[in-house]
Amino acid sequence: MKFDARIDGRLIHCLITTDRPLIAPVFCFSGMAPMMAIEGGEKRHGLAGYTEIQLPNLECGHAHRLTIAHEESDFFPANRAWLPLGAYLRCAGETIALPPLPAGVTIEPRPTPPTDALLLRLCPQPTTFTPSDDTLLVEGFDVDGADLTAVNQLCLRTGLGPFLLHGGTRLSVRPDPALRAEGYRLDITPNGITLDAADRAGEIYGSLSLATLRKTHSGSLPCGVIEDAPRFEWRGQHLDCARHFYQVETILRLLDLMALLKLNRFHWHFADDEAFRLELKSLPALAQTHFRGEGELIPGVFGGGIRSGGRYTSADAQRVVAHAKALNIEVMPEIEVPAHALSIARVLPETRDPEEKGREVSVQGYPENVMNPAIDESWRVWEAMAREVASQFPFGVLHLGGDELPPDTWEGSPAAAALKQREGLSTKEDLMGWTMNRLAEILQREGIAAAAWEEAALGKVGIQHDALLFNWSGQSPGLEAARAGYRVVMTPGQHLYFDMAQTPALDDWGANWAAIIGLPDTINWDPVPDDEPQLEDRIAGVQGAFWGEFTTVDSEAEPMIAPRILGLAVMGWQPRRSCDADTLHALAAHYADVFAAMRWRAS
Ligand code: ACM
Repeated sequence: MKFDARIDGRLIHCLITTDRPLIAPVFCFSGMAPMMAIEGGEKRHGLAGYTEIQLPNLECGHAHRLTIAHEESDFFPANRAWLPLGAYLRCAGETIALPPLPAGVTIEPRPTPPTDALLLRLCPQPTTFTPSDDTLLVEGFDVDGADLTAVNQLCLRTGLGPFLLHGGTRLSVRPDPALRAEGYRLDITPNGITLDAADRAGEIYGSLSLATLRKTHSGSLPCGVIEDAPRFEWRGQHLDCARHFYQVETILRLLDLMALLKLNRFHWHFADDEAFRLELKSLPALAQTHFRGEGELIPGVFGGGIRSGGRYTSADAQRVVAHAKALNIEVMPEIEVPAHALSIARVLPETRDPEEKGREVSVQGYPENVMNPAIDESWRVWEAMAREVASQFPFGVLHLGGDELPPDTWEGSPAAAALKQREGLSTKEDLMGWTMNRLAEILQREGIAAAAWEEAALGKVGIQHDALLFNWSGQSPGLEAARAGYRVVMTPGQHLYFDMAQTPALDDWGANWAAIIGLPDTINWDPVPDDEPQLEDRIAGVQGAFWGEFTTVDSEAEPMIAPRILGLAVMGWQPRRSCDADTLHALAAHYADVFAAMRWRAS
């Protein structure tokens, strides 16, 4: 079997060659949005970007040409990620896999010559470094005053080499409660090193600075005094494990990279339209959402192919939490309320109003993907889900979702209309805000703090109860929320969505709806506007996101996340506007060695 596809303006030309004759096969694949056949076949069925096209009989060895396009006439495929993913043929009850198209970034990374002006090849750059003229050759560290086993294990896992070495360079660790939280001071002298740390995080970060410098300065540490502490308390990275099921090992690898860059919050997005991947005893029906593909509840959207997916057990969750905790990372899980719930609504249809007329369609093209807050069963599901998920994550912050409510949601639901009237609500945003607020209130009584996407603040009464908000569509909604008194984590799609393409080239990979995000774009902004410094207190921090729509194999995420995650680390840790594009490029060039040591995929 052979399969090839290429972009030609709005059109996508596919060539399918079979190694045996096939009678009327159906070509099944996924695109990033609803697609249609132009020539060479007829569309029979679709769900969002998942599409089935009836082909004519195929002769053995003959290349059949099929031309397809996205349904929206102004939609141009941005790059290879828009080509058919997970393609297969269905013929006489049999499924026949077609070879996958090459995936991932193919643009050669453009190396920038390292700037030797960089005194410390460390990302994020420390607050101050006062160099002395010496260097200190180190192999490993002989530590007193702290247990740095977790740092040693991280260094071994990431290829940075053993940290602990009996008889190595003396490293004395001392508590210094006068330092800022997570901060540390390193005094590196030819005779040894002292590390003063505010807390456990400071011990870890000071040690990781040493381990990284040992790598980036080829074993010869620059001597001097480093004083360092973060700008923001929340320095997060998100991973969408619903659209693509990432193995637990992949998540642990991401946590390792985060720790090296002093990132301290992992936002675990394992629930979305396509799946709810954490196994819940209270809602066993959700197990039906774990896999998608041929004959499953949800077909092979987003490169799902004939069958793909997986689930996380509570033992997996415990592993992720423990791994993170040892590296000063807290884990915040997310459940999606009330939208982005297609698979839940399919396995628990009693969460929708049976009298509802009309179908809402999500921006991704999914019909009927919202649960209904006027139906008691929805509350039973949300409360059980929230409690059981939160019980597995000691951080105590649960992200409730709340993004992308489709137009016309609940419009045809008599139960929703009655609820709106009873509560004095007019719009769907009013009803969503009421819903998010009610759930946050229930959880707050049980000691669980709520977080939500920016839309949860909309409506007559947006989410309250000290909920933490995450803006994503741009910076403005986050600033609006901060002005209204919310604590906000800034995760603007235009700067920190690492699933966006890095260049406009057709040969690149990734989305472009928010922006094309080159490395400097990750730092050419600031969470706090120049003329509103008073908002700084309300900005909890910054977070990068990686959505999984384009990922068919775990490692494809790697060249999208790095090097841009370096920019995130800079924004979360360094003082305002203290890094320019040249410095970031230089750091990226030096960190190529760190990524290589980790075997992090570069393209
Ligand atoms: C989002 O990107 N819809 C949070």
